[in-house]
Amino acid sequence: MIIVFNMITASAPGKLMLFGEHAVVHGKPCISTAVDHRMIVLAKKRKDDLIVLKTSQVGIKNYKIRIKDLKNRNYNKGCSFVFCAVNNFFEKYNVKSGLEIKTKSEFSSEFGLGSSSAVTVCAIGALAKLFKIEMKEKEIFDLAYKTVLDVQKRGSGYDVATAIYGGTILFKRGGKLIKKINTRGLPLIVGYTGVKADTAELIKMVEEKEKKYPELVNPIFDLVETIVLQAKRYIERKDLDRLGGLMNFSHGILAATGVSSKELEKLIYAARNAGALGAKLSGAGGGDCMIAIANVNSRREVERAIEKVGGKIIEVKTNVKGLTVSSL
Ligand code: MEV
Repeated sequence: MIIVFNMITASAPGKLMLFGEHAVVHGKPCISTAVDHRMIVLAKKRKDDLIVLKTSQVGIKNYKIRIKDLKNRNYNKGCSFVFCAVNNFFEKYNVKSGLEIKTKSEFSSEFGLGSSSAVTVCAIGALAKLFKIEMKEKEIFDLAYKTVLDVQKRGSGYDVATAIYGGTILFKRGGKLIKKINTRGLPLIVGYTGVKADTAELIKMVEEKEKKYPELVNPIFDLVETIVLQAKRYIERKDLDRLGGLMNFSHGILAATGVSSKELEKLIYAARNAGALGAKLSGAGGGDCMIAIANVNSRREVERAIEKVGGKIIEVKTNVKGLTVSSL
């Protein structure tokens, strides 16, 4: 008898932090948007007790692990999010099966656009379909967020929520608030500094600053919250001019906590000097990407200015759809 196993495809978007980075780790709201660089996971059951992973983007061709070894959690680095997601899913729903999982990425993990959270979300979405378990978006969030914390210990979970819900969201740590913002997206310009940031290190650094200078850093977080709530209104009203102004404020106060870098500053000032309405770092800082907003007529000039000082323009569409899962 030939058994044909169902193949499941899950796809989830990357993200860009618009406002509220770092403060969100300390309980304040943030705004992020889903971008059209997607992670894709293909999954099917196997008859044996092996989980076989192929993730070409990090050069893993056929990494195998036995189901019983999943819980040991000492996975090969490039496999950790997927294997940890599988282990957490098996434990939560008391199911198990051999699996073949293939991941494909439309973007480089270098850019800091959230490939790890997107692959985790895809893996859980695909497993839910494969094992015919009805999971609400918030349940996928809880399990994917647990997985991300298991692997990297820190983070607010905004990247996980953006990968699941898509669009542009107002978010609070751990999913205490996940609210869609009414927008069709923003004409963002994204510049990559060429420097890979260490998010966990930067979160730790801001935490240490907050402990050392609470009377300075806590008011900064309060100010960030004010900016985030105003930004939500300007996004909804499509007031790009005021939104750009908020980006500049936001960058300035973030830089005061020490998370900017000379590469980020170079790109941000080049964008502003070329006519951007505003520019700021996006994400943890220390490198990765900056974002700028510009009117249509100065867009090309802003992009050229960023490139001239060594930045790489990453084309993105914002506000795209979240997790999708289908069976082939
Ligand atoms: C990193 O992309 C954004 C931070 O706020 C961390 C997080 O929210 O998980 C620094």
